[in-house]
Amino acid sequence: MKKIPKDFLWGASTSAYQVEGAWNIDGKGPSVQDAKAGGFIADLNVKGITDFKVAADHYHHYKEDVALMAEMGFKSYRFSINWTRIFPNGNEQEPNQEGVIFYNNLINELLKYNIEPLVTIHHFDLPQGLEDLGGWNNKELILKAYVKYCEVLFKEFGDRVKYWQTINEQNMMILFGHILAKQKTGIDEGTKSYQIFHNMNVAQALAIRALRKISPNGKIGPAPNIAYVYPKTSKPEDILAADTANLIRNWIYIDVLAKGKYDQILLNYWQDNGYDIEITEAEMELFKSVKIDFIAFNYYSTMTAQAPTKEKDYKVGDQQMGFNIENMFQSATNEYLEKTEYGWEIDPVGFRMTCRALKDRYDLPIIITENGLGAKDTLTSDGKVHDQYRIEYLRKHIEQIPSIINDGVDLFGYNPWSAIDLVSTHQGISKRYGFIYVNRDEDDLKDLKRYRKDSFYWYKKVISSNGEDIK
Ligand code: BG6
Repeated sequence: MKKIPKDFLWGASTSAYQVEGAWNIDGKGPSVQDAKAGGFIADLNVKGITDFKVAADHYHHYKEDVALMAEMGFKSYRFSINWTRIFPNGNEQEPNQEGVIFYNNLINELLKYNIEPLVTIHHFDLPQGLEDLGGWNNKELILKAYVKYCEVLFKEFGDRVKYWQTINEQNMMILFGHILAKQKTGIDEGTKSYQIFHNMNVAQALAIRALRKISPNGKIGPAPNIAYVYPKTSKPEDILAADTANLIRNWIYIDVLAKGKYDQILLNYWQDNGYDIEITEAEMELFKSVKIDFIAFNYYSTMTAQAPTKEKDYKVGDQQMGFNIENMFQSATNEYLEKTEYGWEIDPVGFRMTCRALKDRYDLPIIITENGLGAKDTLTSDGKVHDQYRIEYLRKHIEQIPSIINDGVDLFGYNPWSAIDLVSTHQGISKRYGFIYVNRDEDDLKDLKRYRKDSFYWYKKVISSNGEDIK
């Protein structure tokens, strides 16, 4: 069995709007996560679930938080830049210097402890100012704005940031955009969704081109959510359906940036459904001229699919559940897998399978930028959090890493979700993922004090033994 390489990037992950808070501080403008039709979500409390106004207040606690990450022994930290700290409305002439200063400070703080910054350029928080003008659907506007934003990041931080991820979970933004990114996308919005999909691909290709020019030593890749799709049975129709589901859920979000073209099955799907996507020859040439350096991906679960039947017994839920496409495939429950308390299937072997499938299709280095268990934690009166369930979940996934590497996969890091407690995309602060507990709840901010969970001490041991001691 091959050993985990010495320079393996052990760390963890967050995203700006879910962790930072300070939603209108130091010139930051509103993102789609702050704004809501008719008013700011920050002034509301949606169905007993907190907003993103304060989150974990990482903006004001970043030094303390980074010190705790260093104490755990992190080699890397994956975080995102809040677009509206840099361009408050999305289309200003000059960047907001206070935003630039904050990320300079954060990056420098990480480097002080030799923690490699893994930067996500865009994680679900489009400036509301751009959304008001059509957002990702307004191709001319969004390409200009996204590329300008990228150029600023590469110029300001490229001397210290080596790893960039273009867009977090582009696939989930297309398939579950209404839940995650406050945008009206989904499989029922065919032309619109796939036009946005294509615009995002052009934006990412332009970002790659810009990085090569501005910061040629930098490395860049996408960060989709990949869940390998199993066939429900060995019936050939089910296997075909699972293959299609793999393509529609996973591969099309990497193909164009890794192989320079759209898969024929996708083009047929668009044509059969009358989805009319505006794609120019120049854009197709652009795709051919750029290539990603690695694939970052978020792994929580696998999916199971079968050929469409009359019985629609699978309940479609949020981003980590399955979904159906008429005449192509429908999701099914995998009876062999347990579920988290939020209904997500737990599949560590599927983690290995997903890595193998990525290796087969792309043969590129890969890094895990999310993986983890959302659960309701309890802080005891003596300041402890006994999150054995989280340790179990993570252990079972980490246990797969030597086999994944032994399979020949160039896996160079593992950054589970999340470094510290933060606000879930749509289920509040009570759905916790962190190694570090943040003392607040949905409607009471308490003292926001940080506590080390049991998983904190456990992960520290995992890292210091380079993955050998996972007991
Ligand atoms: C991923 C997202 O889909 O899953 C994160 O990239 C998110 O932003 C994570 O927080 C966990 O999902 P949730 O819905 O429980 O917050």
